[in-house]
Amino acid sequence: MNKNEYLIKYNYYLNVFEDYSRKVFNKVSSDSPIAEAMKYSFFAGGKRIRPVLMMAVSDGMSVDFNDVMPFAFALECIHTYSLIHDDLPALDNDDLRRGKPSNHKKFGEAMAILAGDGLLNFAFEHCIRYCDGKEKLSALLKVAEYSGYSGMLGGQALDVFSQGKNLSDEQLLMSIYKKKTCKFLILPFVVPAILSKKENLTLYENIGDCIGVLFQYVDDFSDIKGGKQSFGKTMGKDFKDDKLTAVKIYGEEGLKSRIKGLSDEILKNLKIFKNREFFECFMLDIISGYEN
Ligand code: IPE
Ligand code: IPE
Ligand code: MG
Ligand code: MG
Ligand code: MG
Repeated sequence: MNKNEYLIKYNYYLNVFEDYSRKVFNKVSSDSPIAEAMKYSFFAGGKRIRPVLMMAVSDGMSVDFNDVMPFAFALECIHTYSLIHDDLPALDNDDLRRGKPSNHKKFGEAMAILAGDGLLNFAFEHCIRYCDGKEKLSALLKVAEYSGYSGMLGGQALDVFSQGKNLSDEQLLMSIYKKKTCKFLILPFVVPAILSKKENLTLYENIGDCIGVLFQYVDDFSDIKGGKQSFGKTMGKDFKDDKLTAVKIYGEEGLKSRIKGLSDEILKNLKIFKNREFFECFMLDIISGYEN
């Protein structure tokens, strides 16, 4: 698969996802300020890597899109809520997101908190409607668990805790990564695996986990170096706020070699997918985020 074929496939998944999301949101009345604020961030131009990955994994496992779309939608809603709250003054205090004013800059802090909460509830409200049968319920439980106190929120709490403390603690960095970022990159692999009744879920959890670490490495790197991943965000913010990042722990050169080592490891593990070329291109695309 060359770069052009990859982009065609990515855009195909993206368009299916955008159509689905528009249909769901069309049913939500816009006359309340919370709905407007929810839609503002949801349709602000995110890359949609989590739903796209979930659809590609489903393709590779022959899972019906009708079964997986409610989960892909829910995950993107929860991810968007996590970004709205991440940007709040009490957390990262970021004015820019997805190239636009952050939700609280546009609608005020109170509305941004409510819009985030609104997206979280909406994710489950939507998904539960489609959750018939044991597998779907078990997939939904994973979504709930990985978004909560022991998952994304737990990581965000550690991230806040470690800020400005002049810490250089690799173990702490990894536990922040594993929770705040990796859980939402495991879900695209593990949800289709559960729906298709795969026995070895750990295999799929591990792939998502490694891709999550790689993704956050590049995100931390792009804070100082720019590149695709920093698009639409305020550069230099982690450095200025003394965040515990991979750049702080490993330095630029050390981080580059970690990115290389980890991507080689992931490439080996992708062999289990019959459409593995898509995932290989996806990974190269993430890495190109800091190489450019
Ligand atoms: C940003 O995620 C949060 C991190 C885990 C670094 P993305 O880079 O996927 O953000 P969007 O969805 O494209 O805006
Ligand atoms: C955020 O990590 C991860 C979330 C759970 C939202 P970052 O704080 O590094 O994400 P960006 O750089 O603001 O997108
Ligand atoms: Mg943050
Ligand atoms: Mg942030
Ligand atoms: Mg970041």
